[in-house]
Amino acid sequence: MLNGRKVLLIIGGGIAAYKSLDLIRKLAEKGAKVTPVLTQAGSNFVTALSVSALSGQKVYQDLFDLDAESEIGHIQLSRAADIIVVAPATADLMAKMANGTANDLASTLLLATDKPVLIAPSMNVQMWHHKATQRNLARLKGDGIHVVGPDEGSMACGEFGLGRMAEISDIIDSIQNVLWAGPLQSRHFLVTSGPTHEPIDPVRYIANRSSGKQGAAIANALLARGAQVTFITGPATADRPTGANIIEIETAAEMNTAVEAAGHCDAAIFAAAVADWHVVGAGQSKVKKTDSGALPQIEFGENPDILRSVSQRKTNRPELVIGFAAETDNVVENATAKRLKKGCDWILANDVSPETEIMGGDTNQITFISESGAEKWPEMSKFETANRLVNKIVEVLGDANT
Ligand code: C5P
Repeated sequence: MLNGRKVLLIIGGGIAAYKSLDLIRKLAEKGAKVTPVLTQAGSNFVTALSVSALSGQKVYQDLFDLDAESEIGHIQLSRAADIIVVAPATADLMAKMANGTANDLASTLLLATDKPVLIAPSMNVQMWHHKATQRNLARLKGDGIHVVGPDEGSMACGEFGLGRMAEISDIIDSIQNVLWAGPLQSRHFLVTSGPTHEPIDPVRYIANRSSGKQGAAIANALLARGAQVTFITGPATADRPTGANIIEIETAAEMNTAVEAAGHCDAAIFAAAVADWHVVGAGQSKVKKTDSGALPQIEFGENPDILRSVSQRKTNRPELVIGFAAETDNVVENATAKRLKKGCDWILANDVSPETEIMGGDTNQITFISESGAEKWPEMSKFETANRLVNKIVEVLGDANT
């Protein structure tokens, strides 16, 4: 779950600092990369040597460490992480954060960052309950800082109450919660969408009525669940999904090239209405009317079948390959046969006869076809269709945040 995630850990000067060593170890076990920052006060409780040995990283300590500035500036340090964790967060560090003070490395990083920040407060019970600390806490929460703990218990100073740093397992759970973008985070999806345009000559082309609405809705539903999406679209009228890597193409051949160049993806959804044929020899010159009235002869060539070639890849095949089948007759029979012929995992079949107004419209009526058979979905908006499909994808590829 934390595999590959980058944690910038600021170790403040409190007795709980020794627990931060265990935090580093547990984070590393979960695959996180920890970059440690030790405050001057923190270095009274744990040594830079032990922090560096456990994290396997250089320990950053001084704002004006010229070495560090030439290697990696403090702004970059504050941005390179996925999250900044302050554990233990002392009353002093909380006060600095609440006031925007930047007079040492830790406070400067906290002011300069654009990443989520999680603090694990740890201090004497009276210090915790002091109005100043509670005021700072409220301000930090208002600023969007995430807080875990403190817990209640007996303290190193001999008193009892709230102020012990949260358990390491709770800190790790909180880090996971803050970083959890959704069940499809860290998954890469490829979505094709819209029509293709196949040129006849420089001014004319063959097109179809696809609006790209269904493909865009699917990309949006994937993005909303934290996925990374490469969206390859023909000249569609629908809005492009914000947050996707958008690749605009015109022809089926260009779409095929873009799909091949997209690299590894966990699932591919082919919602585009790709032209089956292109015009052979469509060149730079406009086809002219002839004086004799002879009609131009258009010769068609077959386009690459993108869905089929991705489905039948020997290497680098996505775990799930999903196609659409726009049919006008015998929808279920034809789509069931198409799933087998193409070799894809799922087919979403729809009746695009003119009276259904599905092509270009806002609703869809899908029959979902998989190895287990055909499942008729009620007529619903393209937005709802996308969510229903993406929920099925989550069942196969989703991360349950455990
Ligand atoms: O073969 P047919 O066009 O009926 O199949 C439809 C499905 O195949 C859709 O998912 C469409 O995106 C995909 N397709 C493709 N490349 C083609 C033709 C269709 O990826 N050349």
